Amino acid sequence: MESSSDFLVLDIQSCSRCELSKSRTHSVPGDYGPKNGICFVGEAPGHDEDIQGRPFVGRSGKLLNQMLEKIGLHRDLVSVLNIVKCRPPGNRTPTDTEMKFCGDLWLPAQLNYLKPKIIIPLGSVALRYFFPKARISRDKGKLLFTTDGKPVFPLFHPAYILRNGKKALEEYLKDFIVLKEILNKLNYLPGPEVISDSNDFQKSDEEDLNTQTSLNDFLP
Ligand code: URA
Repeated sequence: MESSSDFLVLDIQSCSRCELSKSRTHSVPGDYGPKNGICFVGEAPGHDEDIQGRPFVGRSGKLLNQMLEKIGLHRDLVSVLNIVKCRPPGNRTPTDTEMKFCGDLWLPAQLNYLKPKIIIPLGSVALRYFFPKARISRDKGKLLFTTDGKPVFPLFHPAYILRNGKKALEEYLKDFIVLKEILNKLNYLPGPEVISDSNDFQKSDEEDLNTQTSLNDFLP
């Protein structure tokens, strides 16, 4: 019998409904965390994801995991999906047609299954799937609501942060701290590692940024 965590996974793995399926190694259905939790939504798989069939396993994924740990969340406690499930050749940005076709095919059903308390689009493509007129540089770090009232908190794509150096990383950390505060307000209980005082957290993490090689490793 199919386990509940297999929801749509086999269908996505065997999908050949668009051209992107022809050049992929694996499609990437996504990682399902707990239901009624937190759902990050990226753009499309890159090289590492295409090889492994899992989302955000390359450098962007490592940065995402580190940011999650900074706010007391482990990657296993969140869902991570992409709008487009197959890697566009050469890592190009998916076209609007690819985004709409693949997004509409799977994402509403996945979100309906996971019923996240909050959706976090990572980057411009994912944001524009939910809000076609939004702009990531203007709207990241703002709490938005879908027409059916679901909270959406867009953030920059980790790949953008990796390209933009230390200042961008510091801003990113601040946005994640705001996310943590929103999660607290939503009564989301992320688990034992959660750091309850965000002021202390912010201070110690700003210090960490200067000294921790693990985060600085990501910077050019
Ligand atoms: N970038 C994305 O948008 N998604 C992934 O899964 C990996 C990198």
